[in-house]
Amino acid sequence: MKIAVVLGTRPEIIKMSPVIKELERRKASFFILHTGQHYSYYLDMVFFKQLSLPKPRYRLDAGSGSHAEETARMLVGIEAALVKEKPDVVLVEGDTNSVFAGALAAAKLGIRVGHVEAGLRSYDRGMPEEINRVLTDHIADYLYAPTPEARKILLGEGIREAKILVTGNTIVDAVYQNRKLAEQEEREPLPFPDGGYLLLTLHRQENVDHWERLANILSGVNRVSRELSLPVVFPVHPRARKRLNEFGLDTGNIHTIEPVDFLQFLRLESGAKLIMTDSGGVQEEACILGIPAVTLRDNTERPETVAVGANILAGAQPEKILEMTKLMLGRKNEWTNPFGDGRAAERIIDSLLEA
Ligand code: UD1
Ligand code: UDP
Repeated sequence: MKIAVVLGTRPEIIKMSPVIKELERRKASFFILHTGQHYSYYLDMVFFKQLSLPKPRYRLDAGSGSHAEETARMLVGIEAALVKEKPDVVLVEGDTNSVFAGALAAAKLGIRVGHVEAGLRSYDRGMPEEINRVLTDHIADYLYAPTPEARKILLGEGIREAKILVTGNTIVDAVYQNRKLAEQEEREPLPFPDGGYLLLTLHRQENVDHWERLANILSGVNRVSRELSLPVVFPVHPRARKRLNEFGLDTGNIHTIEPVDFLQFLRLESGAKLIMTDSGGVQEEACILGIPAVTLRDNTERPETVAVGANILAGAQPEKILEMTKLMLGRKNEWTNPFGDGRAAERIIDSLLEA
């Protein structure tokens, strides 16, 4: 069986890394196609290097643009590569434009599609990712649901039970495989002592592309920092950086840094007193690492984190952000990680190679 791994952004590289390693371990026939959706060193190459991933056989130049531009460029490039390579299966992970383009190009060529992290829903069609998730799940032949809840969602949408496998989330594999390395690695010390800072990430289109919403979030985070006397570390995603510049918004007392590599980010997460985020992967990692999270959104496709008490939705209003942060800091960090045992990639490849 020949497998094509299609990916294009930071979270896909990180969450596909355990799958790629498993394919290598089994000496499976596979190649990587990178769409080029993320191309800046610190969103892309840094992870290939740090996670020792093989070089993509194909690297498209989809780059940035409107949703249609990005997706269209990817579709054309992916189709050409798939026609040439004739893989039996295309594997995609998550909910980005790269994921949907990979799934659509493959399905139209009659190539089977495996969707890693299937069945997540925010039920908010205003999010581009929600559209990508729904469409990809309904195109896919193999749906690797991270949790029983995700499987239930897929069944509820009429997807055949035989197509779905609950595997756990590969982010647990990635965290377990790299957590020790992150602790051992000799690095410059973090800017603040362990447990003495908050960590912030922000990049969702619906948050950072709207002046008022972004201004409210920044004001809320600054208020939290002042009232609780805790510094905030903010590795700034390029989409957020672009909007901050365009809107002329000031981040106040927030300690901004460039995005960091995976091991450094795991260190930053592990040392944080609490994590404020609108990222999907960061909500999961906080939960896995035992750090409380406040999600700066009105909904989440990771409700398991909220159900176990690791996460709470705070939206974008300053008072609510402060209230929810205090509430989470008052809780005991005693939850059980709902995303599996770190062997998701093994299950995915086991079942794929038998298919
Ligand atoms: C994309 C995904 C999002 C995912 C995120 C992970 C979609 C619809 N969005 O959002 O689901 O959570 O990646 O980080 O697929 N830019 C750079 N360098 C890069 C890439 C982007 O500077 O390497 C800047 C460009 O100004 C670009 C902007 O970031 O216009 C947005 O990039 P894009 O890939 O369109 O969306 P993300 O916000 O990164
Ligand atoms: N991450 C990283 N460096 C950073 C910020 C995040 O390596 O400076 C990692 C983080 O550990 C997680 C992933 O990026 O695994 C999350 O990606 P992102 O928030 O961009 O996307 P999402 O998960 O929301 O799709």
